[in-house]
Amino acid sequence: MTTFGDGIDWDKEAQRAAAHDAIGAPAGCEMLDIIMSEIGQRQNLRAVDCGCNIGQFFPMFEKAGLDYVGLDQAAQALQIARRRWPKARFMRTYLWSDWLGVLAAEAASGGVSTVDGTDEAARERVRFDVAICCAVLQHNKHEEKERILPRIADAVKVGGLFAIQESTVTNETATQLRHDQWIALVERYGFQLVKTWHKNELGHEDGYLFRRVA
Ligand SMILES: C[S@@+](CC[C@H](N)C(=O)[O-])C[C@H]1O[C@@H](n2cnc3c(N)ncnc32)[C@H](O)[C@@H]1O
Repeated sequence: MTTFGDGIDWDKEAQRAAAHDAIGAPAGCEMLDIIMSEIGQRQNLRAVDCGCNIGQFFPMFEKAGLDYVGLDQAAQALQIARRRWPKARFMRTYLWSDWLGVLAAEAASGGVSTVDGTDEAARERVRFDVAICCAVLQHNKHEEKERILPRIADAVKVGGLFAIQESTVTNETATQLRHDQWIALVERYGFQLVKTWHKNELGHEDGYLFRRVA
C-alpha cells in the first residue's frame, strides 16, 4: 500500500464497499442529477470519474448515455470495479499524474502507446465534458490537491463541467476545507462556480458544480 493524504488504505475500504455495494456518500447520486440537468439533451459526451474506487457511478453515467472513464490508484478497488462493470474503462493512476496523456496516446495509436501523449491535438481529442470527484480531494493534503487540480483542469474541455462533493468543515484540517476554500481552490484553476447543493451535518453545503471558463 502506498500512503498519501490522510493515509487510508483504499484497497481495504474497497472490499468493505463491495460488500455493501457502495463507498461514497449516497448524496453523490444527486450530483449526477445536477450534472444532467446542466447538460440537457447534448449527446456523445465523455465523463471522467476521478477517484472512482469500485466504480459505483458507472451505471448512472451509462444510463445517462455518457462515455465513462474511472481513475483510481487502488489496484484491488479497480479489480472489483472491472469485475462488476466489464464494459467500463478503468485506469490505475494517481490523480496528479498525466493520465490525460496516457488516454491520448492510447486513443491515437489504437490501444498501443506509441504516440506521444504530450501531442496537443491528441490530448484535445480525448478531453472530457464532465469530471467528478466525490469524496476524493478531501483525502489529499493541500499540496497534493494543488498537483491534482491542474491535471483535472487540463482534462476538461473549455465549457465542460466539474462537480465535486467533498468534506466541508468549519475549520480547515490537514485535508478538509471550508466551503469558501473549496470554491477558491477550484476557481484558481480556470473554473467558475455554477451552483452548490446538499447541506452536510455541520450545516455547510458540500456539493459544488463548476464550469471550465479558461
Ligand atoms: C471515499 S472513496 C470515493 C469513491 C467514489 N468517488 C465514490 O464516491 O463512490 C475515495 C477514492 O479516491 C481515491 N483517491 C483519492 N486520492 C487519490 C489520488 N490522489 N489518486 C488516485 N486516487 C485517489 C482513493 O483511492 C479511493 O478509492
